[in-house]
Parts: sequence; C-alpha cells; structure tokens
Amino acid sequence: MSEPDVRPADPGPDGTCLVTGGAGFIGTAMSAGLSARFDRVVALDNLHPQIHATPERPADLDPAVQLVVGDVTDPAVWDALLDDVRPDVVVHLAAETGTGQSLAESTRHAMTNVVGTTQMLDALLRHSALPRRIVLSSSRAVYGEGAWRRTADGGLFHPGQRTAEILERGQWDFPGAEPVAMAAATTAPAPVSVYGATKLAQESVLSAWALSFHVEPVILRLQNVYGPGQSLINPYTGIMSLFCRLAKAGESIPLYEDGQVRRDFVLIDDVARALVAATTAGSPGTVPIDIGAGEDQTIARAAELIAAYYGAPAPHVTGQYRQGDVRHAWADVGHAERVLGWTPEYSLEQGVHRLARWIDGREKG
Ligand SMILES: NC(=O)c1ccc[n+]([C@@H]2O[C@H](COP(=O)([O-])OP(=O)(O)OC[C@H]3O[C@@H](n4cnc5c(N)ncnc54)[C@H](O)[C@@H]3O)[C@@H](O)[C@H]2O)c1
Repeated sequence: MSEPDVRPADPGPDGTCLVTGGAGFIGTAMSAGLSARFDRVVALDNLHPQIHATPERPADLDPAVQLVVGDVTDPAVWDALLDDVRPDVVVHLAAETGTGQSLAESTRHAMTNVVGTTQMLDALLRHSALPRRIVLSSSRAVYGEGAWRRTADGGLFHPGQRTAEILERGQWDFPGAEPVAMAAATTAPAPVSVYGATKLAQESVLSAWALSFHVEPVILRLQNVYGPGQSLINPYTGIMSLFCRLAKAGESIPLYEDGQVRRDFVLIDDVARALVAATTAGSPGTVPIDIGAGEDQTIARAAELIAAYYGAPAPHVTGQYRQGDVRHAWADVGHAERVLGWTPEYSLEQGVHRLARWIDGREKG
C-alpha cells in the first residue's frame, strides 16, 4: 500500500511519555518510535508471569526507555512513580487480555483493566500531574458480534450474542445476514466477553474523566494484532503464533467452528506506528479510532498460509468453539487514515512470513 498524503508533520521530541504495560508486546514495539518522539519515556509494567517467561527487562525494549516495575492497581506504585514523573502524554496499555480466560477469571480482568485505570486517573489527579493526552489501546472486543446487513432488504442490525444454546447446536452465522466492517461511528458496542466488557468500561471511564479535566482521550480499537515479539508462553492470546508452533512441529492446525471465522490480522509494526502517531496527531477527536489491516481473512486462510510456510499437513476443521469468540471481525480504517494520517502497510502473507522467521530465529538461538 502507498504512503498516505495526509500524514501530520512529526513535531519532534516533546516532553515525557508514560506507557503503562510498556514492556509487553505492543509497548516494546512502540518503544523506539516513542523514544524518537519524546525527551523521556517511562514504562510502568509488572512483568506479568503469564506474558514474561522471566521478570527481566525485555531485550527489545528501546534502551532509552526507563522501566519501572510495578502494578497499575497499586496506589502506592502510582504515588512513588508520580513523585518523579510528570507525564505530558500517557499511553495506557496495561491489561489482562485473555478473551476466553476472562470468563473464568472475570475479577482478575476487572481489577487490572477497570480498577487499574481508575487508580491511574485518581493518582494523576492526586499528584496534580494531568497529562495533555491519554491514549488508550482498546479492542474490537467492545463490538462483540458487531453489525450485520440483512440480505433481504439491506438493513443494518446488531444481532447480539451467540448464546451457549446457539453455539451448542452448531449455528455459527446469523441466518439471512452478512457481517459488515466495524467502524466506531456506525457499529454499536455490545461486548460478548468479560474482557470486551472491561475494555468498554476502560473507554467510558477514561472519556468521562478526561473530558472533565481538559485532558484529551484518544481511543484506538485494535483488531487482532500479531507478529514478532508476541509472548510465546501466554496460552490465552496469540492465535497466529500458536498456529506457527503447531505447523513447525509438523501438526495439522485445528480450526474452530467451520474454519470460516473471519478476522482482521494486523501486523505489530502497523499497530505500533498507529499508536505512536496517536500520541502527537493534531486533534484526533473523541470518536474511537479503528485499527486493523482493513481486510477480513478467514482463520482457514491464515492457517493455510502458515501450514504452507512450514510444509505442514493441511489444517482441519474441528467444529469446536469457544465462548466469548465472535464470528467475524474486521475494521473500516478510513477514520484512522483521516485523523492519524495512518494506513496499514503489511499484507497477511508478509506478516506471516515475518512472524514465522522470528519464531524460527528464536528457537535456533
Ligand atoms: N494484542 C492484541 O491483539 C490486542 C488487540 C486489541 C487490544 N489490545 C490491547 O493492547 C494492550 C497491550 O496488549 P499487548 O498485546 O501488548 O499485551 P501484552 O500482554 O503483551 O502486554 C501487556 C503488558 O501489561 C503488563 N501488565 C499486565 N497487568 C499489569 C498490571 N496489573 N500492572 C502493570 N502492568 C501490567 C504485562 O506485564 C505486559 O507486559 C492491552 O490493553 C490490550 O487490551 C491488544
């Protein structure tokens, strides 16, 4: 894809940026871009054992980033941090991210995602350390099943959740309708996982608070992010790396439902660039910004690409399903192009090859 012609001028280094969850997959990928743009970058991260094999600074975190190890739910951590750090911009990434896991561990998800956010906001106010902008990495999970179009009359509707009864009888789609791309301006939020509900709560809490205190809330709703750097030990997220590991071991990749579940797989490089742009873009507004590759791909196609790369047997359909998963999800990225001057650059083929080469390199090393 070509470069957009509306990219805002880079304003250059600009004060202090605080990144919660800054040692994770997305935080690490953003770190060089933020260091180039801000005088000081501080990452607050508890190096959660589900994501970090060892509680050490990630090797790929930009050396200019100051890492503070601490939990966003702990007010004492915030007090110590804000005694030293006066953020101009906050990027709030810290979260529990397991969609399926969140059904069984809802309190844990609510604590980090909702209470962690409110602790941060209370601490910023307590320390009179209001930033000018807070960028939140929200999720397409806030949409749940999103909006669908009736084939009979073309009308849009929100079909709601595929309940346990619907899934038990193997009804995957909503009969007589086709899904449409997710766009904040037209798709109503209706989460079908506890994770999605906590991400929507984060958005609402942040917006209500920020708009009361002259702080700009900038909310990005990310589709399925994948690529080099994603945790290889977290069993609850990262379907693309899981597929790579299965195919590399010579196994046939199992496909849930009928294999025709659609997702928007967006490469980490594109996502990091969007989030860095969101820290300084002029007036992006308060409407959430959808970030994806802007293309729907079936899970079967992604699995076939990975199987072909490794010479593994063809993927197979299992008919199993997972509560909390939605049938189809992909983004309309037109709004992101307009307000961030950002456009996705990587195709699925390019991304899969980058991910597979990264996994191969790590396992050799
Ligand atoms: N990766 C995706 O596909 C995706 C999609 C949509 C939204 N998001 C959102 O992007 C953000 C970052 O996701 P990621 O993929 O980098 O996840 P990640 O798990 O790799 O990173 C999250 C980081 O937060 C840290 N963390 C977790 N709980 C914490 C706590 N209580 N206190 C301090 N730090 C804590 C972890 O140690 C980790 O380093 C999350 O808010 C997630 O909801 C991610």
